[in-house]
Amino acid sequence: MLAFIIILLFIHMVHCDYPMAKSANNVHLYRSGSAAFTANGTVYIHGGSTIASNSNQLFSISFDEYGFLHYQNVSDQGPAVSYHQAIVLPGNNSVVFFGGLGYSIPKNNGSQTMHAEIYSFSQNTWNTLPGMDGTTVPLHREGHTAVIASNELIYIQGGAPGPENSNILVDSWVYNPKTLIFTNLSTPPVGLYGSSAIALSDGRIIYIGGRYSTENNQYISSFLLDRSMIYYTDSDIWMEQELNIQAIHVINRFNDSRVHGSAVLGPDGRYIYYFGGMNGNDGNGNDLYYNNVLILDTQTWTWNAPGIPGIKPNHRCLTIGAGINNEYILFGYDINKANTTSTGVDILKLPETKKSIGNNSTELDFESLKWVYNITTGETCHQQRYPDEKLPSSITKSFIIVLEIICGIVLLALIHRTIAILWHRRSYSISIQ
Ligand SMILES: *[C@@H]1O[C@H](CO)[C@@H](O)[C@H](O)[C@H]1NC(C)=O
Ligand SMILES: *[C@@H]1O[C@H](CO)[C@@H](O)[C@H](O)[C@H]1NC(C)=O
Ligand SMILES: *[C@@H]1O[C@H](CO)[C@@H](O)[C@H](O)[C@H]1NC(C)=O
Ligand SMILES: *[C@@H]1O[C@H](CO)[C@@H](O)[C@H](O)[C@H]1NC(C)=O
Ligand SMILES: *[C@@H]1O[C@H](CO)[C@@H](O)[C@H](O)[C@H]1NC(C)=O
Ligand SMILES: *[C@@H]1O[C@H](CO)[C@@H](O)[C@H](O)[C@H]1NC(C)=O
Ligand SMILES: *[C@@H]1O[C@H](CO)[C@@H](O)[C@H](O)[C@H]1NC(C)=O
Ligand SMILES: *[C@@H]1O[C@H](CO)[C@@H](O)[C@H](O)[C@H]1NC(C)=O
Ligand SMILES: *[C@@H]1O[C@H](CO)[C@@H](O)[C@H](O)[C@H]1NC(C)=O
Ligand SMILES: *[C@@H]1O[C@H](CO)[C@@H](O)[C@H](O)[C@H]1NC(C)=O
Repeated sequence: MLAFIIILLFIHMVHCDYPMAKSANNVHLYRSGSAAFTANGTVYIHGGSTIASNSNQLFSISFDEYGFLHYQNVSDQGPAVSYHQAIVLPGNNSVVFFGGLGYSIPKNNGSQTMHAEIYSFSQNTWNTLPGMDGTTVPLHREGHTAVIASNELIYIQGGAPGPENSNILVDSWVYNPKTLIFTNLSTPPVGLYGSSAIALSDGRIIYIGGRYSTENNQYISSFLLDRSMIYYTDSDIWMEQELNIQAIHVINRFNDSRVHGSAVLGPDGRYIYYFGGMNGNDGNGNDLYYNNVLILDTQTWTWNAPGIPGIKPNHRCLTIGAGINNEYILFGYDINKANTTSTGVDILKLPETKKSIGNNSTELDFESLKWVYNITTGETCHQQRYPDEKLPSSITKSFIIVLEIICGIVLLALIHRTIAILWHRRSYSISIQ
């Protein structure tokens, strides 16, 4: 019995997921390709593909004063979709969901115009986004990017029409939430699928990772991390920017390709935190899901790949990322862990700044990054869950389980022996009294 408890304890210690309040149930956990956003300091998640179907749930994640995670249902009246994009409108009272898999489009052959819905928090209502019946509306799509730029216009790029037509769209559109009008922009050098878009405050939009195509074709290849596409919103111009990937080369043996990762801009507006995703070699049995964070400096165009202390996060693909209070980034959900139990999220503490020696400038101290287990205290768990970034996670996990069982058996044997010895001594001391 004791040994059993110890084995349980051991397993619990190795798999220390971010702790969830007892009241939270597991219904929200099984999904990938959800859309996420932060509004008024709370992280919201909508839809995603569950094992059986697409979800229509909109729910929030918050933390109590003790650092425990809470889920709250917000609405289940919206569309059941995945691989879509969520954009919070200025004022944080409404959020627009663009595109996605799951709309009942009979045989989506690529000629359907985009579906988009708007949710109002104050009225708790869902409506078709105004302007969707205009003369120039983009084609429907999934796996695209959508991002709101500093000019408060929404930019949509790439994606593919749907399961019956997976040709990547090589186009770019802007939606003006005030005039309710879509405008077709200059054609990008490549269309991207499973990419991440980040809007900088100076009007540029940076595109990272994904697969690409050059002329509405099946994808050609992965869009490697050695370059970014940059779109200049004020001049409608596309540029390709070379990135310094020396730091990544050490850890990535699949030529720096990454699809369906998650990118979040840090509060300084300079560094992009890019987490998870898989290599571009899917389909041939060599899928590799990542659990490391790569950090792109948008001033020097250099990737950093710091080792981050704390429990290593889950290997996550089609994951969401959202900032919390300029201090943390929450990454959560994925295709890989769909069938296991976990709270579904990992939380990264953003780096502190440090003064440079010799000059007056401050810079980020990447050594202060950590995966936390308690958002109130910023504590880490001090236990490594999935130790190796490079092994396929299933092998690593099976290995950990085997190790745990062996440790459990050894412990069991030791305890039995100890009890037997103690019992023997006790009987012996009784007998000589
Ligand atoms: C909207 O939410 C963001 C993120 O939580 C916050 O930084 C911002 O101040 C909010 N804006 C308004 C108008 O409440
Ligand atoms: C976080 O730390 C506080 C203070 O030590 C403690 O009360 C709380 O239970 C911890 N929360 C979790 C989730 O471990
Ligand atoms: C949240 O919504 C889901 C799906 O509609 C439901 O299964 C679950 O019980 C709800 N949770 C709470 C706490 O209401
Ligand atoms: C955020 O705060 C604004 C202003 O107080 C409010 O109008 C909006 O509905 C809030 N949004 C959410 C998601 O709480
Ligand atoms: C696509 O579907 C529409 C009707 O939904 C049909 O009119 C059109 O011919 C189809 N195009 C192709 C290429 O199959
Ligand atoms: C969008 O603009 C590009 C470049 O001007 C053009 O080639 C393309 O045909 C336009 N697409 C639509 C749907 O109008
Ligand atoms: C990486 O790219 C090079 C040249 O582009 C190619 O020769 C090599 O086979 C690739 N390696 C892998 C693991 O895909
Ligand atoms: C999850 O379970 C379902 C049904 O048992 C199975 O079809 C699917 O492949 C599993 N997915 C993963 C990621 O293990
Ligand atoms: C300040 O010094 C650090 C080295 O300590 C250097 O990396 C950084 O570029 C310097 N910053 C400026 C603005 O000169
Ligand atoms: C150095 O930084 C301090 C505050 O951080 C500022 O008051 C001072 O003007 C700066 N000096 C120079 C030379 O930039």
